[in-house]
Amino acid sequence: MRALSLAMILVLSYGSAALAAPPGVLSPCAGCHALNGVKKKVAGPPLAGLYGAKPLKAGIKVARWDDASLNRFLWNPEKVDPTTRMFFKVRDDKRRAEIIIAMKALK
Ligand code: HEC
Repeated sequence: MRALSLAMILVLSYGSAALAAPPGVLSPCAGCHALNGVKKKVAGPPLAGLYGAKPLKAGIKVARWDDASLNRFLWNPEKVDPTTRMFFKVRDDKRRAEIIIAMKALK
């Protein structure tokens, strides 16, 4: 199971239609993070460009934000970054996968 990507798990569990993130899936993030194209910091950094990049905050023990690291972070940010100021958890597996897919598409 570990070797399967989140996208694959989504396809297996919900069918390929689930691969497109539903619109608005990032709206819970928007209170604290700028979304498409906006470079301004809100409470946290803009989400565009984070996928595939190294963490912006020093000391986060993640090489790059990818499916696996974002999946862990969004489940409970404190597990990945004990000093995080992000107090927001996404406990629903399908929702986390959709959020990660939507993050990849941000420009
Ligand atoms: C209540 C405010 C809040 C919400 C809601 C929130 N975040 Fe955050 N997020 C933050 C803050 C603040 C930081 C910076 C944490 C720090 O510096 O300790 C952060 C940091 C992050 C980081 C790490 C950035 C880095 O590389 O250092 C990611 C990834 C992230 N948020 C994704 C998300 C996503 C995706 C959502 C929506 C599902 C979301 N956040 C919702 C406040 C929030």
